Amino acid sequence: MKNYDILKKFIVFEGQDGAGTTTQLKLLDKRLGETPHWVTAEPTDHPIGKLIRSVLMGKTEAQPETLARLYAADRHEHLFGKGGIRDHLDSGNLVVCDRYVFSSLAYQAITCGFPLPWELNRDFPLPECLIYFRLPAEVSMERLNARGERDIFENSPFQQKVNERYERAVSLFRETGMRIVEVDATASVEEIHGRIWRAIQELPI
Ligand code: TYD
Repeated sequence: MKNYDILKKFIVFEGQDGAGTTTQLKLLDKRLGETPHWVTAEPTDHPIGKLIRSVLMGKTEAQPETLARLYAADRHEHLFGKGGIRDHLDSGNLVVCDRYVFSSLAYQAITCGFPLPWELNRDFPLPECLIYFRLPAEVSMERLNARGERDIFENSPFQQKVNERYERAVSLFRETGMRIVEVDATASVEEIHGRIWRAIQELPI
């Protein structure tokens, strides 16, 4: 087993489309109140993240392998760029991020096979805590259907595979020292928020 760097006070939310990570990020942001913190997400608002969204919306063409590299480039900048994750952690903030390497290991493993996203992501440091929102693929699709606009990944056969791949991606990190908190994403918004809040309070920070 590889020795991973674990970034203290760095928390990541992961889950397939429709799992509710964005709603929970907003709630947590509010609840953290005056506690020094920064909430953020991938793909980012950096030009690389914007290019990714343009590909996802079908406005720019790119090969899946190119997209895999764009996600990794966006992540590198997000972590190490000025005003990014590392800078915030160094200034004493708790950082909560919606999606991280586990998204690449789930989604890009489907479109490109596992070796490329693994190669591109294996050296990134891990968060202290991963909050994994587990959602059956059917529920994910019901929620996406109710939403309207869809990106290239938001269809039923793909979501079925994402589900499987997420489970595998998360399992790879069980022995790394990163804390993994699994959340039933079909529970109510309040219940999920309560579970996340308790998990964060249990962290040695
Ligand atoms: P998403 O969090 O759904 O953004 P938004 O809420 O703004 O639509 O992310 C966009 C898509 O990108 C989502 O389908 C998951 C996918 N994705 C990857 O395929 N690989 C990655 O590494 C990341 C971070 C996201």
